Amino acid sequence: MTPLRDPIVTLDGPAGSGKSSTARAVADRLGFRHLDSGALYRALTFALLEAGIPQTEWDALTEAQLRALDVRVEPGASGFEVFVQGKAVRNELRSPEVTTRVAHLASLAPSRATLMALQREAGRHGRLVADGRDMGTEVFPEADIKIYLVADLSERARRRLRDEGVAEPSDAEVRAQAIAIAERDRHDSEREHSPLRRPDGAHLIDTTRLDFEEQVDAIVALVERLTGAG
Ligand code: C5P
Repeated sequence: MTPLRDPIVTLDGPAGSGKSSTARAVADRLGFRHLDSGALYRALTFALLEAGIPQTEWDALTEAQLRALDVRVEPGASGFEVFVQGKAVRNELRSPEVTTRVAHLASLAPSRATLMALQREAGRHGRLVADGRDMGTEVFPEADIKIYLVADLSERARRRLRDEGVAEPSDAEVRAQAIAIAERDRHDSEREHSPLRRPDGAHLIDTTRLDFEEQVDAIVALVERLTGAG
């Protein structure tokens, strides 16, 4: 088989399915760049909060107003750095203020249009692993390899809590986190614009019983087999 040149690999799935950390590790192993599209929606949410624009006004914002918030992405060593008003942002994007509001912003057509061009530009040269909710359906419909990651809700809640430093969460903590994740899933799946769904032709990987290394190995092996590399 002739190896595919400069492929694009998309990884979509619900919240807490391990997409971003997995996509980053897969990209590292393949020598590709990683695009975390959720970070862009988070950056736009962060920019609105920084600008002091209340959530009650978000539905009326135009694409031009959102563009003026100046969210950008620049290629870094292995992934992309995200900037708001010229300042690199990273940990700010994971705050509870941003996390609870991002799904609302992401449901609005002008915010999706604002970020579309940035994402496509990031994929212009291929050799990309892009993760999010609509990578394989809307942003890179021509992607060479599409993957849809799923995992049981309670396992996703446990992983989220572990990421937040809660090593041994109680049942009540897992339940509360599962409710928050299910709410975000509902928002992402039921919205009118670019709802979360399994892209046509996507390879389904259930990570409930896989540890992190096993997930990464499974995806790298799939990509190498399908691209004719390795
Ligand atoms: O992946 P992450 O949890 O950082 O994404 C944050 C939110 O951004 C998601 O809940 C979703 O509402 C939105 N999102 C999206 N489309 C993407 C990536 C993220 O709507 N491609």
